[in-house]
Amino acid sequence: MSHLFDEFRIKAVTLRNRIGVSPMCQYSSEGGMMNDWHLVHLGSRAVGGAALVIAEATAVEYRGQISPNDVGLWNDDQIEPMIPITRFIKRWGAVPGIQLGHAGRKAGTPRRWNGVWGDWQQIAPSPIAFGGNASWIPQEMTRDDIQTVQHAFREATRRAVDAGYDWLELHGAHGYLVHSFHSPLSNHRTDAYGGSFENRIRFTIETVRLMREVWPENKPFTVRLSCTDWVEGGWTIEESVELSHILKREGIDLIDCSSGGAVIDAHYPVGSGFQVPFAERIRREAAIPTAAVGIITEPRQADQIIRLGQADLVLLGREMLRDPYWAIHAAHQLGQKKYLNYPDPYHWAVG
Ligand SMILES: Cc1cc2nc3c(=O)[nH]c(=O)nc-3n(C[C@H](O)[C@H](O)[C@H](O)COP(=O)(O)O)c2cc1C
Repeated sequence: MSHLFDEFRIKAVTLRNRIGVSPMCQYSSEGGMMNDWHLVHLGSRAVGGAALVIAEATAVEYRGQISPNDVGLWNDDQIEPMIPITRFIKRWGAVPGIQLGHAGRKAGTPRRWNGVWGDWQQIAPSPIAFGGNASWIPQEMTRDDIQTVQHAFREATRRAVDAGYDWLELHGAHGYLVHSFHSPLSNHRTDAYGGSFENRIRFTIETVRLMREVWPENKPFTVRLSCTDWVEGGWTIEESVELSHILKREGIDLIDCSSGGAVIDAHYPVGSGFQVPFAERIRREAAIPTAAVGIITEPRQADQIIRLGQADLVLLGREMLRDPYWAIHAAHQLGQKKYLNYPDPYHWAVG
């Protein structure tokens, strides 16, 4: 039986434990460039003992940014500021990951503080507004648009390799572009990219194939899914299981199991570990490794998820914002002192 502090190996990458930092937008970039904030923010979580540090949703196109202050990899200049960050994360024993995404119809909303709106036309599978602060009607993507965006995913993947990332995640969740193709609530297309399940997942499968052309064979390539829309008539967990089967055949190594975001009026049964059953079901039924995420806050809870075989990894979001040293604190709490990953300059603190 595995536990929270067991190593986890996928391909040539070994994680020192089962704890990862979930991708979280920092709304702190200018021109899509990472900066000192990202070094300190992501670097501290590596120093804090997490095994995997996944950088925020990184836009593959300018018009794919969730907010105009998102990080991007839509041009080569954006590679260089990332290099010292991935180097630092590796130096302190963690694996640097990146989530590549496109915000589609939800792109260009301002950050919560001092924010500006995107100055571009949003695109989506269908001209259906999300609502709320993204109430505009997006432009329906043409075949050319689809190919342009898919090519952008490929190019951003190539740049992610050059930037030093060892773990890749395609953002297929939260109502952003990839997920908006999956969900019948946001995809009303009548061409090869809409309608049947096979058509709604076509954009994803084609995109994954292009990304695989440039992502190294020996490094993990993962996908985050919204496993359900939590709405009648929306994307379902059964479809997520089916898609996971297919993604596994396409060479995907792990499914990161999130949910929701497709429509504004969904009701979420939010509570401790509420998305864990998705990770458990996909792991069991699609026979692919999974990550569990969502209100996982307590070391014992995280350890149980791994011990019960509900997921192979736990990803923490807000709890990692509260406590960058969560993994070290968890090792203390669980009495796993041999797994205290204090960095060498802090060795006086061990004991
Ligand atoms: C500030 C913030 C930014 C986030 N940005 C992203 C993101 O870039 N990509 C993503 O897939 N999820 C994002 N999320 C969702 C988290 O990755 C995570 O799935 C969610 O917060 C639930 O986990 P938690 O309960 O541990 O916070 C964000 C969450 C927060 C709080």
